[in-house]
Amino acid sequence: AETGDAQVIALATADSVPAPRPGMPLLRQRRRELRGHIVDGKLDAVRRQHSLGKLTARERLALLLDEDSFLELEPYRRHQATGPGLAANRPHTDGVVTGSGTIDGRRVFVYAQDFTLFGGSLGEAHAAKIQKVLDLAVANGAPVIALNDSGGARIQEGVLALNGYGGIFRRQVEASGVIPQISVILGPCAGGAAYSPALADFTFMVRDTARMYLTGPDVVEAVTGRRVSHEELGGADVHGSHSGVATVVHDDEHECLADVRHLVSLLPSNYLEQPPVTAPTGAVEDYRPKLAEIVPSEPNQPYDMRDVFAEIADDEEFFELHAGWARNVLCALARVDGRVVGLVGNQPVVFAGVLDGPASQKAARFVRFCDAFGIPLVSLVDVPGFLPGVEQERGGIIRQGAQLLHAYCEATVPRIQVIVRKAYGGAYIVMDSRSIGCDLSLAWPTNEIAVMGAEGAVNVLHRRDLAAAADPAALRARLVAEYTEEYLNPQYAAERGLVDDIIDPAETRAAIARGLAMLREKRKPGPARKHGNLPI
Ligand code: HXC
Repeated sequence: AETGDAQVIALATADSVPAPRPGMPLLRQRRRELRGHIVDGKLDAVRRQHSLGKLTARERLALLLDEDSFLELEPYRRHQATGPGLAANRPHTDGVVTGSGTIDGRRVFVYAQDFTLFGGSLGEAHAAKIQKVLDLAVANGAPVIALNDSGGARIQEGVLALNGYGGIFRRQVEASGVIPQISVILGPCAGGAAYSPALADFTFMVRDTARMYLTGPDVVEAVTGRRVSHEELGGADVHGSHSGVATVVHDDEHECLADVRHLVSLLPSNYLEQPPVTAPTGAVEDYRPKLAEIVPSEPNQPYDMRDVFAEIADDEEFFELHAGWARNVLCALARVDGRVVGLVGNQPVVFAGVLDGPASQKAARFVRFCDAFGIPLVSLVDVPGFLPGVEQERGGIIRQGAQLLHAYCEATVPRIQVIVRKAYGGAYIVMDSRSIGCDLSLAWPTNEIAVMGAEGAVNVLHRRDLAAAADPAALRARLVAEYTEEYLNPQYAAERGLVDDIIDPAETRAAIARGLAMLREKRKPGPARKHGNLPI
């Protein structure tokens, strides 16, 4: 294109060719600058960005979007502030590149903060550009992807910067459940700015460069006396493993942005659309003998529920969310017979797959996302119960467990429950049992479904008999065997309509695929009300 530009200019100066329209050479110069990723001569800042292992805003967009698909909006916008230090420094873009492009040919809206200008800080114009992108994304029913790299509110613009954030947050909340929102943290994201990713559906972070906190290390030291590093306070692993703020963590930006593209391929563009469907994979006829080998029949022997997910998902592929946080429950997007589903599974290798506060919240948020965007839910249940303990009770496990209960009860998408080994007590109810509205409940023949295990039940029911027995051990063994025979099998539940069918483990993938086909047209209007009151 540059050779072309030079030819046009050369020809334009010849007598026989009309002069270019005024302004055109400048426009071409400007566009060349934009293509070169360097705006307003900030070469040193770009070098610094690269030296920190970070890409520039435009380099990131080039990795995220399909080639040549980016349409930029308001590249000339600049702030109108007159405060000290700002009046003489008014770069175009105002530190954020906004617009739209495609991912695998599907429309998305994007904004990428440019740390090389004002540290990517957000002032009035910067915020107005982001707000415009959010408005367009909702109006066009397309996902919005934010690439964050910013020092937060632009200090010199004062309350106008704060007002800008408020306008972004309000739009994000209005867009919640309407279009998918993905936030990618590729640098600092401090103070109130961290609420933007917190309001998004998915937050990606990159190790070493991304950091999120409400108050930085200096303030923490001043207030608490404790010196912490940026990474320790708000690095990717902190949010990926401890706080649950980050949904996905990566080692570098290339890998991270490629993964965002992968996620988008599994999502609908908006709540009225279906996620992209790929060719059927013959799952309805698939026989998977390996499933019976993966799950031991002894109730306490651990195994990795990921192996079960792999047997159920097309191409053994699934996109795990929050892999490092609340690891006793697994949440993943996958395809079954070419159609996207949300898989929820208890994870016996971590705390025996027990449900605790964080696990309940992780699964609750995932169930609500799937429900909002019409993604059917498949719950793979192997749960000993809720985690007992003083810490759990004080930490609010009742409230947090109720969030998961609320999320499932409210979900109107197709819901399939598969009990792969055991399901006890309240956790049985919460993990999408028939009583709270699953459409199809399937059990394996070796299942234990009951209020509690045999030992515990015998202790409660036969305390006096056992105390009075001549041979308590023999009596206990007989009572445990009787209880196991009577209650610890799926037959009891199946005869009472609480389990729809008892299946050969090898048929699980096929049974799920058939169930999903049966439920494809499910419609279930919610009750008339303003909104429920989720126990948050
Ligand atoms: C204006 C800012 C800025 C800000 C950075 N810069 N943050 N300008 N407002 N908030 C400018 C710097 O002055 C510098 O300009 C350039 O960006 C690069 O910043 P450096 O400090 O040189 O970069 P680095 O060493 O990498 O440190 C990055 C940083 C640090 C950790 C983000 O800049 C920092 O602590 N910034 C302030 C963070 C903060 O407290 N923000 C307000 C949070 S409160 P020059 O001209 O030298 O290149 C908030 C409220 C939101 O955001 C409320 C919403 C409800």
